[in-house]
Amino acid sequence: MSKAKTIFSCQSCGAQSPKWIGKCPSCGEWNTYVEELVLKEKKVASSKAGIEGNKPLLLDDISATKSERIKTGIEEINRVLGGGIVPGSLILIGGEPGIGKSTLILQLALGLENKKVLYASGEESLQQIKLRAQRLEQNSKQCHFICETSLENLLIQSEVFEPEILVVDSIQTLSTEHIESSPGSVAQIRECTSAILKYAKSKGVAVFLIGHINKEGSLAGPKVLEHIVDTVIQFEGDSNYMYRILRSIKNRFGSTSELGIFEMRGNGLNEVANPSEQLISKINEDVSGTAISATVEGVRPFLVEIQALVSSAAYGNPQRSATGFDLRRLNMLLAVLEKRAGFKLQTKDVFLNVAGGLKINDPASDLAVICSILSSNIDVAINHKTCFAGEVGLTGEIRAVNRVEQRIGEAAKLGFEKIIIPSLNKGQGFNEFSISIVKVSRVEEVFKNLFR
Ligand code: TYD
Ligand code: MG
Repeated sequence: MSKAKTIFSCQSCGAQSPKWIGKCPSCGEWNTYVEELVLKEKKVASSKAGIEGNKPLLLDDISATKSERIKTGIEEINRVLGGGIVPGSLILIGGEPGIGKSTLILQLALGLENKKVLYASGEESLQQIKLRAQRLEQNSKQCHFICETSLENLLIQSEVFEPEILVVDSIQTLSTEHIESSPGSVAQIRECTSAILKYAKSKGVAVFLIGHINKEGSLAGPKVLEHIVDTVIQFEGDSNYMYRILRSIKNRFGSTSELGIFEMRGNGLNEVANPSEQLISKINEDVSGTAISATVEGVRPFLVEIQALVSSAAYGNPQRSATGFDLRRLNMLLAVLEKRAGFKLQTKDVFLNVAGGLKINDPASDLAVICSILSSNIDVAINHKTCFAGEVGLTGEIRAVNRVEQRIGEAAKLGFEKIIIPSLNKGQGFNEFSISIVKVSRVEEVFKNLFR
């Protein structure tokens, strides 16, 4: 009898090796290799059938009826998905535990009218789901629930029930009996997702898969998954704060630059249609150390408050800390400040915080970051009706930013009186905004303008 073949695979990134390795050469994690049984390859069906059954076609010969998208009751989700749910698509929703993935999808499932939904949970009991639904004050005559962790049982139930939308919460709890490794391992996740994909495509059922992310912030196991599914959306935010951002990372049926913003309240997640108004603290006085950045995430402009605290370093090593902003980028900006504004790096602790628990990736927020730091350093406030958009280069030049009209428009809409933008941004329509636009090309100019 031949020995069963096994392979070792990294539970963090999915890399495989014939031997056990302590440190994964692919992602650098330690002790993540687990032995997994390899499935026997199925015999390839006779090649003749393949030739007759599957022929190359011209685009003209391919019949494609544009399928109607299913509109959900939550506008922010429709937007992130590119206009609604495409029937037969596989949508993966990732996020840290406790961020609100189950809540979001439950709200979505209960809010869908005239659509048969099957919500399969392997994480919570039916009672827990009922309590949550009561908390959300929602009910539905169309949405059915099942507790299931076996892939085979779930697919049988689903074939009988024939839902239009299937929810799997979460893919990490599902397991197939064909593989001997434990639920949540890379092999299980990969196998279950492929099986669900096959089911979704053959029956035209849209499937939401909920997936946890690991401590590095990527979907656990699941670089593998990202290739299989049609759409990957990530639900992020700081669970200590109310705001949550739904971001599309991959979308075969729409753009990935859309963003949905939610607020977690006692009665579930509420859509935030005008985030800027919420993200700026309503203090109508000038305090040092804060600057408002006109950012764009994806295609959505909003204003966020950046707060900095600069104090004398008590010990040898000055501290640097950033919440919601890249620490390496902060260090780079501090070096620019040292060179251009006489900011003595070695003697100062710097703490940076993006208000509301948001993470911003927009390089145009650089300008607000350095202005808030300098404002805190010299303890002079920036006018609270001024905002910023500009990327800072290594030589202290202010580089052009994208979508500048949108940024200006958003600032003007919110009653700001002045916006500082890069002079490299040329635009014709700037005069139509009821806000004074100051163009700068170097950081020194900005400081002169603000702190004369
Ligand atoms: P949950 O959807 O269970 O997170 P996930 O599925 O991503 O692990 O969300 C749990 C958190 O949301 C929990 O800490 C409590 C909070 N919450 C509210 O604040 N209000 C609500 O109405 C609900 C249902 C949850
Ligand atoms: Mg959950």
